[in-house]
Amino acid sequence: MSFDDAITALSSDALKFVKDGYILGLGSGRAATAFVKSLSSYLQEKNLKIRAVPTSLQIKLIAEEGEIHLIEADQIEKIDVVFDGADQIDHQKYLIKGGGGALLRENILINAAKKVVIMADKSKFVKNFNRPVPVEVHPLARNTVTKSIRKLGGKPKVRTIERGYPFITENGNVILDCDFGVIKKPKSLAQKIKQIAGVMEVGIFTRKPDVIYKAKTGGKFEIIT
Ligand code: A5P
Repeated sequence: MSFDDAITALSSDALKFVKDGYILGLGSGRAATAFVKSLSSYLQEKNLKIRAVPTSLQIKLIAEEGEIHLIEADQIEKIDVVFDGADQIDHQKYLIKGGGGALLRENILINAAKKVVIMADKSKFVKNFNRPVPVEVHPLARNTVTKSIRKLGGKPKVRTIERGYPFITENGNVILDCDFGVIKKPKSLAQKIKQIAGVMEVGIFTRKPDVIYKAKTGGKFEIIT
């Protein structure tokens, strides 16, 4: 089942939140990529001047290709709008993020944003989270954090790429994908994980989006506010 047409359509619709002079946050992943491609043509067509903060090298490369004016996160205090994808969205509009490993920067931007726009296909919408939670961990704390996550009832697994090499984030950390089964109390779980020494970021985001785009089949989408 493909949601590509709907993601392209909603990416164009989301351009209505872009205004001249804005500072934008650019998330990572497929939905963010589709948005950045639409954004690039839109800016040229309307002759709008914006600045954008990328959350990863992945999206930075796409934005560079589209000649979008980029700045770093440490140069700004506030972001007008962040556009990003999500791995899961629960009934409270909390998010699981970090499937691509960019959770630390994504959370910084989302929390600095006046408006957060999330774009995801309908397979990502669940009542309660049930996929592993990405946890970014300083490499030195890998084993101590693993032990603490197990105490919280989770089953952590070091994320690897091909041939078993560990996935290293752009911040030089590892990711533990932590299976907690069905998560009934995501906010309190996120707080408990965040308190563990050596945890740099937790992929449960509790800053609720202002706008959520839900991609459906047949090029259709729904807007949830
Ligand atoms: C990156 O770390 C993630 O948070 C992505 O935003 C998330 O994985 C959604 O990606 P897709 O749009 O590719 O599904």
